[in-house]
Amino acid sequence: MTNFEETKKQFILPKGLIYLDGNSLGPMPKNVPSEINTFLHEEWSNLLINGWNDAEWMFQPENLGNKISRIIGAEDNSVVVGETLSVRVFQALSSAIKDVGKRKIILTDSGNFPSDLYMAQGLVHLLNDQLEIRICAPEEVLDSLSDEIAVLMLTDVDYRTGRRHDISVISKIAKDNGIVTIWDLAHSAGALNLNLKEWDIDYAVGCTYKYLNAGPGSPAFIYVNPKKINEVKPSLMGWLGHQKPFEFLHKYVPGKGINRMKIGTPPVLANAALAASLKIWDTVNMSELRSKSIDLSERLISGLQKNCPNLKLASPINAEDRGSQVSFYFEHGYPAMQAIIEKGVIGDFRSPNIMRFGITPLYISKEDIDLAIEVISNVIQNSLWDRPKYKKQKFVT
Ligand SMILES: Cc1ncc(COP(=O)(O)O)c(C=O)c1O
Repeated sequence: MTNFEETKKQFILPKGLIYLDGNSLGPMPKNVPSEINTFLHEEWSNLLINGWNDAEWMFQPENLGNKISRIIGAEDNSVVVGETLSVRVFQALSSAIKDVGKRKIILTDSGNFPSDLYMAQGLVHLLNDQLEIRICAPEEVLDSLSDEIAVLMLTDVDYRTGRRHDISVISKIAKDNGIVTIWDLAHSAGALNLNLKEWDIDYAVGCTYKYLNAGPGSPAFIYVNPKKINEVKPSLMGWLGHQKPFEFLHKYVPGKGINRMKIGTPPVLANAALAASLKIWDTVNMSELRSKSIDLSERLISGLQKNCPNLKLASPINAEDRGSQVSFYFEHGYPAMQAIIEKGVIGDFRSPNIMRFGITPLYISKEDIDLAIEVISNVIQNSLWDRPKYKKQKFVT
């Protein structure tokens, strides 16, 4: 059984602070500094260029990818790590559209993250508008799957409301309609009990700085279904995705299996933090994590609904339809969140009126949720947010 008291001890969190923003940036695991120090003082400074072989830096993309596979329920050797999530979205999409013959439509929904939509727009522009992007409402996805659609590109959990799609049902119907599926798991990896292997989806991408706690700007990952990887012709043909990178040939030949999705040099310093943060997951059972996330979310929802009728639940009320965050609509959400943060509970705000609270069982307990309810209720009931200093908008909200 997962010991959540032990996992909590593995994070550095300032005393007295309740951190409900791990859906945006996870806190630092305690082992990160020592892992980075080992890299700096034993590997980089001593091994110098030999580190690529002797410390296996060059194999980090697949070695770390294999650790992430376990967390997202994927097959071994189906994930590689590196680059940023936006780049991985472009990579998946530009590879996927090679697969679809005459179909021209990329279907997505209005709950998708802007960078995913912009990456799709960039690709359409690059291809001289030969493709079309269609954006439907999240609840219309199933009805919009037809034989016109080339690729379905969705983010599983809505970054604003926490509304969750049913990956398994949608992917199956998409597949029956000959549609290639791409799932963005930014708000799912490390938060939900995923089973990519069983769901038989085509591509998935995700980041490691949210629920996987690898630090600001930590590398992204890409998954490709092992049943199709050998037919994938990567559009981002980086040298490290080549079959024989160190033969430095002029012509690109895709590497074996998932290796072809590697692009450029691994971010070794950032990977040291990722390697440290992934160690925690060896002790975590994902269905226990999910059930604790649901318990904590329900506790927060019922506490705030009872105490703060002004806050309107933006997340689905049904736990199964929700990711691992709870969001509320509140007209004065921005200043309210600043006041709550000043009182030691950290959440965040998404324009125009959404207050978000991330639920992360690895380091959040029932007691933390109860204290958070007290602080938030105090701010809302007494309009403590109504002061000029809370209304000055910062760049990052
Ligand atoms: C769902 C989703 N997709 C894509 C991105 C963009 O990720 P990155 O800035 O790492 O490229 C984010 C960032 O938060 C996100 O939440």
